[in-house]
Amino acid sequence: MQHVRKGLMLVATMALLAPAFCAAETLTYSLPEETATLRVGPGDETAQKNCAGCHSVDYIERQPPKMGRAFWDSVVKKMIASYHAQINDADAQRIVDYLAATY
Ligand code: HEC
Repeated sequence: MQHVRKGLMLVATMALLAPAFCAAETLTYSLPEETATLRVGPGDETAQKNCAGCHSVDYIERQPPKMGRAFWDSVVKKMIASYHAQINDADAQRIVDYLAATY
């Protein structure tokens, strides 16, 4: 009789602890507020729409200045080819123009 009671105690204790273990699995966290913004210029909205989804637009700001059209063209192409950014040709061209003229 004694060890049946012990067994019940064990089951009861595990039932009590189980929710605590489950709760530890669901972590909630909030990302820091996005503070980076794109410079104002023709095409900035197209860039904002297409370039802010995966990472901060800070990535653009952090590139060396005055790199020119070929550089930005290769960056945008890389985002599409390597990272599967869904950007149509017209938008891609507009973004390259914007980046080359503004950064
Ligand atoms: C589908 C997701 C995605 C989209 C959309 C996207 N990027 Fe990226 N980008 C990445 C990844 C992944 C990296 C590299 C990984 C990292 O460093 O975090 C990256 C890195 C960069 C870098 C850092 C330098 C480099 O070449 O690695 C720049 C600059 C950049 N992206 C610009 C842009 C611009 C401009 C656009 C809009 C045309 C854009 N990204 C849209 C995924 C994306």
